[in-house]
Amino acid sequence: MDNAFCIRLSCRDDYAAIEEIEQQVFSNPWPPEAFSSMLFPWAFTLLYGNEVIGYIFYSGVQEEMVIVNFAVKPEFQGKGLGEYLLTETMRIMIKNGVHRFYLDVRLSNHRARRLYEKVGFYEIGIRKKYYNNPDEDAIVMGIEFNDLRI
Ligand SMILES: CC(C)(COP(=O)(O)OP(=O)(O)OC[C@H]1O[C@@H](n2cnc3c(N)ncnc32)[C@H](O)[C@@H]1OP(=O)(O)O)[C@@H](O)C(=O)NCCC(=O)NCCS
Repeated sequence: MDNAFCIRLSCRDDYAAIEEIEQQVFSNPWPPEAFSSMLFPWAFTLLYGNEVIGYIFYSGVQEEMVIVNFAVKPEFQGKGLGEYLLTETMRIMIKNGVHRFYLDVRLSNHRARRLYEKVGFYEIGIRKKYYNNPDEDAIVMGIEFNDLRI
C-alpha cells in the first residue's frame, strides 16, 4: 500500500469529514449525533495524507465485535482501500483478543458483500426489513478470527 495512505484511531477532528462521506455513500446515513457521541470502543480513520477518506467503527465487548459502520470516500473506492481498512483493523483487534466478528449488510449491497466474502465472512442469517429508505433485508455475516483470509 502507498505510504500516503494510513490508518489511525479516529479523533474528534475527523468527524466533520466522516459525516460528509456518510451522507455521500448511504441512503440512510447516521445522523451527526451518532458520530459525536463517540461511544465506540474501536473507531478507525483512513487517511490519504491529511485527508480523511474512510472509516470503520466496531462495537462490542471482549471477544466479539460488530462492524457497525464502514465506508470509503466515493472517489477512492475500487482501489483496494476498503479491503485494506477492513483487514488491517481486524488484525489489530485480533491482536487485542477479539475472536469473532459480525456485521449486517443490505441484501442489494453486492460490492460490500463480495468484499466480506473475499476476506472470509460467511452468511449466518437474514433480518427481515432491517433497513429503511428503501426497506430491505439485512444479511448477517460472521467470521472467526482464524478464518480471516487476507
Ligand atoms: C464497501 C466499500 C467500503 C468497499 O471499499 P472499496 O475500497 O470500494 O473496496 P476495494 O477496492 O477494497 O475492493 C475489495 C473487494 O470488494 C469487492 N468489490 C469492490 N468494488 C466492487 C464492485 N464495484 N463490484 C463488485 N465487487 C466489488 C471485490 O471483492 C473487491 O476485491 P477484488 O478487487 O479483488 O475483486 C465501499 O465500496 C463503500 O464505501 N461503499 C459504500 C458504503 C458501504 O456500502 N459500506 C458497507 C456497509 S455494510
